[in-house]
Amino acid sequence: MDKKLPVAILGATGLVGQRLTELLANHPWFEISALAASDNSVGKKYSDAANWHLPSALPDSIRSMIVQPCEPRFDAAMIFSALPSEVAGEIEENFANAGYMVSSNASNHRMDVDVPLVIPEVNSDHLDLIRVQQARRKSAKRGAIICNPNCSTIHLVLALKPLADQFGLKRVMVTTMQALSGAGYPGVAALDTLDNVMPYIKGEEPKLETEPCKLLGKLEDDRIVDAKIRISAACNRVTTRDGHLETVSVELEQKSNLDQIRQSMIQFTSVPQALKLPTAPDHPIIVRDEPDRPQPYLDRDVEKGMASVVGRLRECSVLDYKFVVLGHNTIRGAAGGTLLNAELLVAKNFI
Ligand SMILES: NC(=O)c1ccc[n+]([C@@H]2O[C@H](COP(=O)([O-])OP(=O)(O)OC[C@H]3O[C@@H](n4cnc5c(N)ncnc54)[C@H](OP(=O)(O)O)[C@@H]3O)[C@@H](O)[C@H]2O)c1
Repeated sequence: MDKKLPVAILGATGLVGQRLTELLANHPWFEISALAASDNSVGKKYSDAANWHLPSALPDSIRSMIVQPCEPRFDAAMIFSALPSEVAGEIEENFANAGYMVSSNASNHRMDVDVPLVIPEVNSDHLDLIRVQQARRKSAKRGAIICNPNCSTIHLVLALKPLADQFGLKRVMVTTMQALSGAGYPGVAALDTLDNVMPYIKGEEPKLETEPCKLLGKLEDDRIVDAKIRISAACNRVTTRDGHLETVSVELEQKSNLDQIRQSMIQFTSVPQALKLPTAPDHPIIVRDEPDRPQPYLDRDVEKGMASVVGRLRECSVLDYKFVVLGHNTIRGAAGGTLLNAELLVAKNFI
């Protein structure tokens, strides 16, 4: 690429927006041309508006940028949306209708029939829904919305993908232990979290029960035919800072054995690895054999936070097999996921 593509971030001051600025600071294909957030931040320097939460230093290149309103007037080839769902739906549509390609973290449009919900290793072919979206929403010009799944869904489905491909999936039980950063900033009140586990995260369980069926579904003509998998999810908020841990039991269509399951995960690579996309992990699934791994503190940053780490693979006396999967929620589960989607869009000439 001769010249980097200008990109803008909506919700740039939030937890996911900050991760995006970090990942984009030295990106080989993209450079940040605009940062946008709410009226509380508009007109301020980014360094004054963002309450910086990351261990890395705030990138010098954006420190003095003035935060702008979320209006479709940017010099940008790609819009990253890290807006809360309360406002994301309409703002993202405004950008798409004005001709911008929007790579979203928000849940609003994930299940729209003409919006691709994409994990590049799982269903890169679903990007073809963009043409359906552009034809259907006539005002869209070259613009469109593509979505990243829920942060727990991403790591669940990355782990399930080789099993679905090689053995077929019938039923899945998943229980999540989700980090505090998943609730954004300031998120859950400290007094509710100390010495506690919250056994409820608003709206989370339906996402885990429906999004995997779209992701593992097949694109037929101009629609996705959902995979017929029954999923039961239970979601909990725990007091880790970053990294969602999930315990998973699966029932397969074809009986297998532990070694075949393990090998299917270890050997799994896909389109982003073949295309050598800049943010793609070399190994999307890491399998740990120690009895007490993965752990959020030790394993969330493997492959720069872009891999899912599986461990405790064993037989299940109710379904067939069970395992633990861990993944970084604000990197692969959010900012890094939308960035990989954007790289895929470029590689597949949608931009
Ligand atoms: N955190 C995660 O692990 C995670 C994972 C996957 C997906 N997501 C999704 O990613 C999105 C962002 O999450 P987050 O955790 O980064 O949230 P956050 O920390 O609360 O940040 C929200 C951002 O949106 C901006 N904003 C709020 N209201 C706005 C408005 N009316 N108009 C324009 N901008 C507005 C805020 O700007 P100000 O600073 O100016 O208020 C801030 O930049 C959400 O949809 C969330 O569900 C989050």
